[in-house]
Amino acid sequence: MPMASVNPELVGKVLAEDLYSDAGVLLLPRRTVLTAAHVNSLRKQRITRVSIAEDLSEGNGEKISAQLLDKGGDREIVVCYLEAMEQTRRLFERVDIGQMPSLHEFCQAFQTLADQVGERLGLFRSLYVLEGADSYTYRHSLNVGILCTLIARLLKWDEERISLMGAAGFLHDIGKTRVPREILLKPGKLTDEEFAEMKRHTVYGYEILKQMEDAHETLAICALLHHERLDGSGYPDGRKDEQIPLECQVVAVADMFDAICSDRVYKQRTSPFEAARMLWKEACDGLLNIEIVSPFVHYIAQLYVGAKARLNNGEEVQVILIHRDEPMRPLVRRQGEFVDLRNHRQLCIDKMLG
Ligand SMILES: [Fe+2]
Repeated sequence: MPMASVNPELVGKVLAEDLYSDAGVLLLPRRTVLTAAHVNSLRKQRITRVSIAEDLSEGNGEKISAQLLDKGGDREIVVCYLEAMEQTRRLFERVDIGQMPSLHEFCQAFQTLADQVGERLGLFRSLYVLEGADSYTYRHSLNVGILCTLIARLLKWDEERISLMGAAGFLHDIGKTRVPREILLKPGKLTDEEFAEMKRHTVYGYEILKQMEDAHETLAICALLHHERLDGSGYPDGRKDEQIPLECQVVAVADMFDAICSDRVYKQRTSPFEAARMLWKEACDGLLNIEIVSPFVHYIAQLYVGAKARLNNGEEVQVILIHRDEPMRPLVRRQGEFVDLRNHRQLCIDKMLG
């Protein structure tokens, strides 16, 4: 296991082993993503060397960190994201073994990141360039929390409701901690019974959040109803239209967007433009709320102006201009020429390159 000196270079690295003080007190557990605060505290305790995960599989955080930094992410916010992911992992593991962290503890894991992303959008753009299905549950929870905050802002909701939406998105899938791992991670198609069990994560989530100390009713309702669709085709109740609270409709949009854009065990990720097209179609077909989807899709598309992408025919292009009428079919530059994807319906943006 490589040893490294305790200095600012350690920020963003992952501990390979549990770290104890001379008195045998656990200071930091294995897989902690080191922050500047950790480094300072280690120096104060006169710890000069620590073991660092070198093999990338050892610290998944490092793999993600390297990718985010490589894609131009800013170091401070990348560290913040990884730290939030690590805290999320620990909190979910506690729920897994039947413990119940308080809402306050969950909010602590998420809030710093949400505040940072609100100010700097660079990370958001990099989120969907990440490769690999590892840590999906934690990443998905964080991403949906961030997206819900963003959508609530776009809808001009008040600050209290915006921060409630962050927590609602962050905790919407907490019921999955009660679904057997073989089902959650199964690469192939689920059997009818397995799918029925998977759907139960909504009810489990409701039950968990109802028991949580200081939890808010809206959080439990969002966990219960985020798979409902306006036409009554969703689950668990098959509710329609205004029977589904607006907060749950927001989580539904954020959840679907992140699921489409991320690598999963059973599928590779799709580009945000393709995800936006799918959301738009769901809204036109009456499943998702167009009042939520429209501002969101426009906003997301704008974020990628200037980004490099690959088309479904393999050509590399740069996103130049987003159209108001069809944000998911932008004007792109292909080598020396401009191509308007509205006029080339067979082409679409397959993958963002950074
Ligand atoms: Fe879900």
